[in-house]
Amino acid sequence: MIETLSITKPDDWHLHLRDENLMRVVLPYTVAQFARAIVMPNLSPPVVTVEDARAYRQRILSCIPENADFTPLMTAYLTDDTDPEDLRVGISDEVISAVKMYPANATTNSAHGVTNWRKTERVLAVLEETNTPLLVHGEVTDQDVDIFDREKVFIDEILSPLSEAFPKLKIVLEHITTKESVDFVTETGRNIAATITPHHLVINRNEIFRGGIRPHLYCLPIAKREKHRLALRAAAVSGNECFFLGTDSAPHPISAKEAECGCAGIFNAPTALEIYAQVFDEENALDQFEKFASLNGPNFYNLPVNDGKITLSKQGSETPDIIEVSSTGDQLMPFFSGKKLAWRVI
Ligand code: NCD
Ligand code: ZN
Repeated sequence: MIETLSITKPDDWHLHLRDENLMRVVLPYTVAQFARAIVMPNLSPPVVTVEDARAYRQRILSCIPENADFTPLMTAYLTDDTDPEDLRVGISDEVISAVKMYPANATTNSAHGVTNWRKTERVLAVLEETNTPLLVHGEVTDQDVDIFDREKVFIDEILSPLSEAFPKLKIVLEHITTKESVDFVTETGRNIAATITPHHLVINRNEIFRGGIRPHLYCLPIAKREKHRLALRAAAVSGNECFFLGTDSAPHPISAKEAECGCAGIFNAPTALEIYAQVFDEENALDQFEKFASLNGPNFYNLPVNDGKITLSKQGSETPDIIEVSSTGDQLMPFFSGKKLAWRVI
């Protein structure tokens, strides 16, 4: 039985770091586990221009604990009016690592998102030409489409035509939740990839309603039926280079989650890597963990893999209970709060 596991230092290919006081509290959890992270641009107001991204990167760098080795990889938030030439400069100056497409109003802070992808064709052409990944929140926003079907309908109505129009464009279908997404990525081949979160590997939609309504398990895309969770686990442990780690850790104050209209987002940064390790262990696939966590992502982004190593040991750990944001009085509830986990990062 494997008791310790040493792998190349992993990266988080989808992370919400927020800003200011909240960032100061959540950033150290990510820095402790990951060497790099793709930082989501959905601040309020969003990170739209290269100048916005440069300034946000500076704020992140000034919060990184001393002696820590961590590189934030910045993204720009695509709008109907994004200037393709601004992005071209940001890409060539290595400020922008990827561009994020939120369908307008799909999720938290996405009101500025894209209303019709065809309005962004000039930007997509620049991304294709410069080999820069387009990251997509893959849900349609039509309220008449059932919330559990929105990812599947997005593939049929938007992702399929978009990827056919730009056949060489690198696309990451983010935080996938369905078997249909697994199948789409598997069948389409190398230039379309997907990230998978820890929470979608361990909960299905029943968990959101176990014994009552559990607002801290509400995120978008919402967790689906058990058959989908099993498809995600099979994809993650398959070793297929198109699937890699992206936590979608998305902290919100407890007061915003436990509310009449609670917001979407699961804060999993404190024990993301331990949860992933547990999943790979349960699937008897620890030998595939390094590919998913540390190799497939850089490979897709055309970046070198990290130099350092990280060691996990099966000596148990516990997810923190409530985390205080002392400067604001807010509190955060981590995913699996207070639960015991089999693995620990040492
Ligand atoms: C994210 C957030 O809170 O910023 N929420 C979520 O449920 N995942 C936004 C997102 O990635 O959709
Ligand atoms: Zn996200």
